[in-house]
Amino acid sequence: MTKKEKEVNPLWGGRFTKGTGDLAQSFSASVDIDKNLFEVDIKGSIAYAEILKAAKILTAKDLAKIKKGLNKILSEIEQDKFTWDPRLEDVHMNIESRLVEISGAAAKKLHTGRSRNDQVATDLRLFLMERIDEILKTITALQKSIVNQADKNFDVLMPGFTHLQIAQPVTLGHHLMAWNEMLTRDYSRLIDAKKRLNVMPLGSAALSGTRFNIDRELLAKKLGFNEISRNSMDAVSDRDFVLELASVLSIIGIHLSRVCEEIIIWASSQYDYLELSDEVCTGSSIMPQKKNPDMAELIRGGASKTIANLMGLLSLMKNLPLTYNRDMQEDKAYIFDSLDFSENSLALLKIVIDGMKPNIEKMKQDCFKGQITATDLADYLVEKNMPFRQAHSVVGKIVAFAETKNKQIFELDLKELKKFSKLIEDDVSSYLDPAITINSRNQIGGTAPSQVKKEISLSKKLLAKRKL
Ligand code: ARG
Repeated sequence: MTKKEKEVNPLWGGRFTKGTGDLAQSFSASVDIDKNLFEVDIKGSIAYAEILKAAKILTAKDLAKIKKGLNKILSEIEQDKFTWDPRLEDVHMNIESRLVEISGAAAKKLHTGRSRNDQVATDLRLFLMERIDEILKTITALQKSIVNQADKNFDVLMPGFTHLQIAQPVTLGHHLMAWNEMLTRDYSRLIDAKKRLNVMPLGSAALSGTRFNIDRELLAKKLGFNEISRNSMDAVSDRDFVLELASVLSIIGIHLSRVCEEIIIWASSQYDYLELSDEVCTGSSIMPQKKNPDMAELIRGGASKTIANLMGLLSLMKNLPLTYNRDMQEDKAYIFDSLDFSENSLALLKIVIDGMKPNIEKMKQDCFKGQITATDLADYLVEKNMPFRQAHSVVGKIVAFAETKNKQIFELDLKELKKFSKLIEDDVSSYLDPAITINSRNQIGGTAPSQVKKEISLSKKLLAKRKL
């Protein structure tokens, strides 16, 4: 064999006289990233070999050799004894060439009726389904922590904000349960994405299907897929499932980022709404007093990767003609990065939330600022039969008056209030006290502590029922 012949890829190099150039070889190698798929690739090959045996393409002996070889490769990889060779491009060809070394001629039959195009699509779907399950578990764990904190603080008074301005009193429990709602939607979006992932492309071969008698239904069963793809061309070129998952992960990313933004604001000395545990903060190399909320900041900042990855994937897929195009190899770096970020930051946020100590006194104090019960005063007038628009305007005038006196509306005396409307009587005081008015928001979804408590127990039940 001449040197040139040696360089040709043994798995596809039949028609080539020259090997791939060095730069082209390193440029096209994806094994550094796609080796993450090794477990599902081996699982897929074992199931495929069994089906090839049923189709009489492999003998029982071949099958045994292939299975033994694949299991040996699995343990080599797990024990870090496997040599990944970038010249063999990707995980699939690395494993197949090693299999030929171990199992000999039988291994050369394994790729019958299969292409890397349907192989990689199958591997990726299996891999993503497993990773989704891991993320579902971390979401549930995080939600449990949030709901526990909400339970401890279900009636703790704090200002609710719009435009980051004090708006109306709420409870800390209610605010925390809002975070819980976001994550409940994220959870259900992941479950939805999993439904469309659960389709097996294997048997589509390169693009047109296979002539061999492959029992695709049985193969799908063996691999744990619910359905099989119905169009071989679509099956090898579809990456909607990656786009969809990346999109769900970017929504999770922005949720985590928004939650962390609030934590960062609350932990500031201006707000002083909570103290974070030392284990999720860092100090400053110059300012000895500093305790910075770095983990929350890194989650907030890192979430931008999930958006960037989604954009990368969308632009990768845009304009691609059917069917497989090598461009698609780039999909893995994006989606793996989003998965890693999501899983780590969900787990980290749980630690942040478990360790945070709310400053109940400061939150309460702030409920006596910002004319926080102005809406309640308007509601009071409505209950005395004044049309709401008129009540809004009357209270607006009361607020303006109070502010000229540098007072809150609850500090005005009845005489002063009466000047704005005769409807105002003694009983108004309970509408001006945030600790009392809070109880009036007692429709489903409202912030009355009794409602918050109900939602907490409902969520606890739902979370306890989850399998993941
Ligand atoms: N490494 C490739 C990928 O991830 C596998 C499929 C390659 N197929 C091909 N015909 N070159 O997309």
